[in-house]
Amino acid sequence: MFCRIETSPRDSHVNNAPLPAALEWLAADLERLAAEGLERPHRVRDGRQGSEVILDGRSLLNFGSNDYLGYAGDVRLTKAASKAACAEGFGAGASPLVSGHSRAHDRLEGAIAGLLDVPAALTFPSGFAANSATIAALVGPGDVIASDERNHASIIDGCRLSRAEVAVYPHRDMAALDALLAGSAGRRRLIVSDSLFSMDGTIAPLADLADLARRHTAMLLIDEAHATGVFGPRGSGLVEAAGCGDGVAIRTGTLSKAVGAAGGFVAGHAELIRWLRHTARGWIFSTAHPPAVAAAATRAIDLFATESHRRRELLERAAVFRGRLAAAGLEIGGAEAQIVPIIAGAAAAAVALSAELADRGFFAPAIRPPSVPRGKSLVRVSLSWLHTEANLETLADALIATHS
Ligand SMILES: Cc1ncc(COP(=O)(O)O)c(C=O)c1O
Repeated sequence: MFCRIETSPRDSHVNNAPLPAALEWLAADLERLAAEGLERPHRVRDGRQGSEVILDGRSLLNFGSNDYLGYAGDVRLTKAASKAACAEGFGAGASPLVSGHSRAHDRLEGAIAGLLDVPAALTFPSGFAANSATIAALVGPGDVIASDERNHASIIDGCRLSRAEVAVYPHRDMAALDALLAGSAGRRRLIVSDSLFSMDGTIAPLADLADLARRHTAMLLIDEAHATGVFGPRGSGLVEAAGCGDGVAIRTGTLSKAVGAAGGFVAGHAELIRWLRHTARGWIFSTAHPPAVAAAATRAIDLFATESHRRRELLERAAVFRGRLAAAGLEIGGAEAQIVPIIAGAAAAAVALSAELADRGFFAPAIRPPSVPRGKSLVRVSLSWLHTEANLETLADALIATHS
């Protein structure tokens, strides 16, 4: 299983010319990051995503992708993409507003709306763009955004872009959210939350969020990035699983994780989508992602219907894995799904744990600030349907061994 392959020397393309004076601060800041244990590696992957991955020439069992259902390397997606590329060419060539919205994008938007059981959807080149553009369009100066403190960077940036007042509430604290909404009555309000939190693996109280949104006449946007494909009888996510689709007016998500392709979406009422086509700058002023990518995403969404066993088996195995770690006394911070953080605390401790796991043949990345708060660094284990029960057992053995 473990092989070494030939790789070209790292950074061989780099021209080491001295920095001009105006950029010297960059070197100082890089030194600071290294000194604080926050320097991030820039790894090169060979081959495709799978239960194993070759990173910087080293073959490792892969617990560091978001390919939750194993579709990223699936040849059926490759075939769908090739067919669309042959028919429609590779590049989209323009913003969707102009001539970039191809037949493949149109089919994809229909497939997303069908999956979520809503009237309409709009696709973006990334999930990041979907969140940031949608939030920045929905609210502006004078309005209020209530945002969970653990929300993803794309939500945080959307909040900043909007220039609305941003009130951050403690993670999943519904009493704090209620008070915040009561204190901002009469203004346009947007509540925004991940459904499955990307670093903690915790789940938002969706029914309570929907209830608060209704009672306070606030808009509610739920980002299903890590839940799409994994949760819900149809695989549309946690909103479906919680049975509160009617209470969540705006859903965003990504096509880059369980869908195995790339791109992002917002979905909901027809008027919402029509309005965003006039206002979402990240959609209007950005070239559509390639039609081939849209076709691959559509193929994966079709597979959600016929391969529901993948999400069921993934969640069953994840529950067993979490149970084993918790029973052995590992700190997994309330994780509830296929994302399992191993809380290490200091950045250096997370890096050391990740390195030790790599020495034992596993890839699980260290997550440090700014992705998580200071002192809350962790090793993020993401499980995929591609992992066998034996894979999970060997990782659990290794984690327990490093813990004792
Ligand atoms: C919660 C959440 N939302 C949005 C995104 C952005 O998605 P994409 O990778 O498609 O830009 C991510 C990606 O990591 C995420 O974790």
